[in-house]
Amino acid sequence: MTRDFLVPEPLPTPQGLVAFADETWNIDPRELQIFFQAEDVYWTAERTIAQWRRLLAGSRMLTARLVPEGTMGGRLVGATRLWSDHAYEAKLYDVVTSRDMMGLGIASALVQWALRHPWVGDVQHFVLDTRDAAPFYPRFGFQPAAGPDAVHMRVAVGELQRRGLR
Ligand SMILES: CC(C)(COP(=O)(O)OP(=O)(O)OC[C@H]1O[C@@H](n2cnc3c(N)ncnc32)[C@H](O)[C@@H]1OP(=O)(O)O)[C@@H](O)C(=O)NCCC(=O)NCCS
Repeated sequence: MTRDFLVPEPLPTPQGLVAFADETWNIDPRELQIFFQAEDVYWTAERTIAQWRRLLAGSRMLTARLVPEGTMGGRLVGATRLWSDHAYEAKLYDVVTSRDMMGLGIASALVQWALRHPWVGDVQHFVLDTRDAAPFYPRFGFQPAAGPDAVHMRVAVGELQRRGLR
């Protein structure tokens, strides 16, 4: 399996091509903070640059960028952060698409990439917590599990394999 095979193919959208990348080591945490603040992502409202740095050190940051024709880089339009203990559980965090690019498949591409990302290793479940977006996740196999004030969702690796997602 080559790295190119694992990264989602660029996604054509009415606004242009969206390219995906693992930017864990080269994204500026200030850009992430500006993006999440601009998108009013409530759970990151108090997050500091120092915290972003620590999160980048302990997890993987998968991004989507609108790529201007013939150039590299481009505006950040989506992100998903991935964490794993490499033995039992992996977790999706910070799944966000910019408001003007929603409904085009960006988050779906990022989530599916996270679910097959080799860095995760040999785990038994993927989990996530969500307050508003629970109906988005059953399409990948996630189902609600008990939780006090948020819906805790997880999908077994066997189910991902059944769906061809891993
Ligand atoms: C949830 C979110 C990441 C989806 O991003 P996206 O790039 O628009 O998603 P995609 O284009 O891949 O998929 C769109 C599908 O998801 C559905 N969807 C999008 N947001 C949803 C939500 N909050 N609840 C349920 N379904 C949702 C759309 O209705 C659409 O369904 P369809 O394919 O049946 O038409 C985006 O709406 C977002 O950033 N929301 C604000 C932040 C947030 O709540 N993130 C989730 C944290 S757990």
